[in-house]
Amino acid sequence: MSRNQPLRPQFHFSTHRHWINDPNGLVWLEGEYHLFYQYNPFGDQWGHMSWGHAVSTDLVSWTELEVAIPEDERVSIYSGSVVVDHHNTSGFATGPSPVLVAIYTGCLRRPEGGQAQELAYSLDRGRSWVKYPDNPVLDLGLRDFRDPKVLWHEATRQWVMVVVLPDERKALFYGSPNLRQWHLLSEFDAPLEGQGIWECPDLIELNVEAEGAVWMLKVDVLAGHPSGGSGARIFWGQFDGTRFVAQPSETVQWADLGSDFYAALSFNHLPTHAPHPVWLAWMNCHRYAKFLPTHPWRGSMTLPREMRVRRQQGQLVLCQWPHPALQQLRRHATHHPGICLAPKQEHILETQDLDTFEIRLQLESCVGGECAVILSSGSEFTAIGYDAQRAQVFIDRTHAGFSPAEDRLYAGRRSAPCRVPSASHPLGLQVWVDRSSVEVFVDDGHTVLSEQILPTRKRQALSLRCSNAQATWGPSEIWRLAPAQFA
Ligand code: FRU
Repeated sequence: MSRNQPLRPQFHFSTHRHWINDPNGLVWLEGEYHLFYQYNPFGDQWGHMSWGHAVSTDLVSWTELEVAIPEDERVSIYSGSVVVDHHNTSGFATGPSPVLVAIYTGCLRRPEGGQAQELAYSLDRGRSWVKYPDNPVLDLGLRDFRDPKVLWHEATRQWVMVVVLPDERKALFYGSPNLRQWHLLSEFDAPLEGQGIWECPDLIELNVEAEGAVWMLKVDVLAGHPSGGSGARIFWGQFDGTRFVAQPSETVQWADLGSDFYAALSFNHLPTHAPHPVWLAWMNCHRYAKFLPTHPWRGSMTLPREMRVRRQQGQLVLCQWPHPALQQLRRHATHHPGICLAPKQEHILETQDLDTFEIRLQLESCVGGECAVILSSGSEFTAIGYDAQRAQVFIDRTHAGFSPAEDRLYAGRRSAPCRVPSASHPLGLQVWVDRSSVEVFVDDGHTVLSEQILPTRKRQALSLRCSNAQATWGPSEIWRLAPAQFA
């Protein structure tokens, strides 16, 4: 199937056709990364939720397989996770090969709904799945109770599930010896904050240099993100196998300050040589996903990102970096010397071959107003820049091309606070541009912004521009990126 449509992501995952949303069941087993996802096998709108499935040996190229867990007459298959039950605690294994166990939310297909956690397992590396006959495995009789993330907690040698009560904005922790029977361990909430319901929790252990382990609880918030839409809220704390105790934080922290980062999920059971946890998200937003003019696919994932944590001025900060495996897509590089720009000045860096590339820039100073990297196609442009008055980085897609008439917030600027650059400590910007998206990693990934853009014409120029500012850029480097293989 041709994947050469003008807006089709070339190195981000998208399905050949139809609607996708959340990544589900990310897991590594015997050399294969599995990506399951919320999928409508019948159309390009949300509905008939089933788990689609793709595999990769390197996190870069993906092969789409048959639908893994289809909707049935009783339930739709909502988000969840997959674990490798190496010791056959569940008892599902029949031979030496390890069993994959998926725990997901079954959403009853009756008008009044009803959500509970259900289980399916696979004895053949995810190629075929058996729904557990005694489903559900965890049912509170509620309308909204979803998105179980299950992980193995080594210190207490048990399976742990974190799952949310969306409207109450609560994360519940459950424990299990066998993935089939679950008992409540504790609850976590942040009742007075935010407006959006909670979805898609994740619980990830990270290592702080010179300090040791810290746990990050992530919940997606459907509204109330600084972009005006939805996003991934993070809490730092300790998890002892029973309870997540959050550290006090001066500010609300978000994993990504762009509009299009939702339902991120980290991989379970990464190989022991993987130095850091890895996650990826749906690069979209429920508010407008249904209106975006892409065909025959609808929706894509962000790049897989390595996760680290650093302590900075007392606060823990999540740092994310595109997975190093993506470097295999690099083709030729061009280098540009540093340049000083006066107010209203523009400097063209490149005019060709701008479909898919990565650019690394150093901003040494910007005084006055704003300076930005501009991706333009005639009168359409996307600006990725720095605002000296507010000390913020931003992506502005107001004039980037198509924007859905149904959503007045889509066209606009998303910003994130950052430090003031200087010649001795320039602000590093790494920008990954695919045909229809931009991901910006600031200062080693301390701040990230992810946005879709929908140009209606071919990109014609990449330039540096100043508006009412005097800016000095250090040398920059541009790598053209080959398309990843999607089969
Ligand atoms: C988040 C979400 C989940 C749910 C799934 C349904 O995008 O709403 O809470 O399980 O999508 O597709």
